[in-house]
Amino acid sequence: MSDLTTFIAGLPKAELHLHIEGSLEPELMFALARRNGIAIPFATVEEVRDAYRFSRLQDFLDIYYQGAEVLVRREDFRDLAIAYFDRAAADGVVHAEIMFDPQTHTARGVPFETVVTGLLDGIADAEARHGMSVRLILCFLRHLEEADAFATLEAARPWLDHIAAVGLDSSELGHPPEKFARVFAAARSAGLRLVAHAGEEGPPEYVLQALDVLGIDRLDHGNRSLEDPLLTARLARSAMTLTVCPLSNLKLCVVDDMADHPIDRMLREGLRATINSDDPAYFGGYVADNYRAAAEARSLSRADLALLARNSFLGSFLPDAVVAGHLARLDAYMAAQ
Ligand code: HPA
Ligand code: ZN
Repeated sequence: MSDLTTFIAGLPKAELHLHIEGSLEPELMFALARRNGIAIPFATVEEVRDAYRFSRLQDFLDIYYQGAEVLVRREDFRDLAIAYFDRAAADGVVHAEIMFDPQTHTARGVPFETVVTGLLDGIADAEARHGMSVRLILCFLRHLEEADAFATLEAARPWLDHIAAVGLDSSELGHPPEKFARVFAAARSAGLRLVAHAGEEGPPEYVLQALDVLGIDRLDHGNRSLEDPLLTARLARSAMTLTVCPLSNLKLCVVDDMADHPIDRMLREGLRATINSDDPAYFGGYVADNYRAAAEARSLSRADLALLARNSFLGSFLPDAVVAGHLARLDAYMAAQ
C-alpha cells in the first residue's frame, strides 16, 4: 500500500452521504437474485459492471432502482448493510449516517418494516464487530408525489426512534425542494433532522430552496452552489456542511475530469466540505477511494485531508461531546504522523 493509502485508511472519519442501496455490489446482486429467485438482465458480474456507464444522474438511477429489486427479505437488507459496514470500517469510518430509499421497496410490496429491521440488524452487527456508530436517514424519492412521501413518513412513525433524519434524493431536475416543503415541515415536527440533495444537477436556486423552504441541516452535494458567490458566502458563514462525493461527480458527469473537481476550491472558500462515496458499488470506490482520488487529482495535503475528516464529524448528527471525542482522536492521529 502506498503511504497515502495507508494514511487515508488510518484517518478517523465519518461517512455522511451513502445510499445503502448504492452499496449493492454485483456479486451480492447475483447472490440475492439466486436466493430470491429473481431474474436479472445480466449474465455475469462483468456485464453488470460494463453497464455502469452514465452520462447523467437519470442513467444511473434507472439501473440503481433495477438493481434494488433483488432486495426482498429482512436478511437481504441485513447482508447488504453488513457488507457496506465491513468496507467502511476498513476505510477508517468510525461513524456512518446512511440513507435508505423505502419507496423503492414498498412500491414492490416489500414492507417498510422488512427494510428497517434488516438495516437495524446490520447496524447492530457493525456496532458489535467494528465499534462503529450508525444513524439512519430516510430519503424521499423526489420524482414521486408529495402524498407518497407523506405515506412513507406515516409508515416510518413506529420506527422514528431509530431514524435520525429525512433526506431527498432521486431525479433532481424538475423536482425542486419546494415540492416537499410540507412533508419536511412534518418531519421536523416529528423531531427529525433534515438533509436534501441539491445542486448536484439542479441550479443554485434549488440549494436556496433547500435552505429557505425546507430548512435543511445539511446539504447533499451542493456543487452548483459555487456558481452563486452570495450563496457560497452564505453557506460558508453559516457553516453548512456539504457532503461532497468526488467519484460520483465524475461518473455522473457533474465534473468532466477529476482534475477539475472543486473540492479544494470549496475548502478555500471556507465551506464545510466533506468527502463521501454516495453509491460506491456503482461509482467505483468507497470513501477512502474518494479521499485518494480527490487528493491525487487536486494535490490535497494531509492537512487538507484531516480538515475534510474533521468536517465529517462536525457535520454529523452526533452529540457535541461525542464529536469532541472523535476530534481528539483525529488530532492524536495527526500528531503521531
Ligand atoms: N443523487 C440523487 N439521487 C440518488 C443519488 C444521487 O447521487 N444516489 C442515489 N440516489
Ligand atoms: Zn446521493
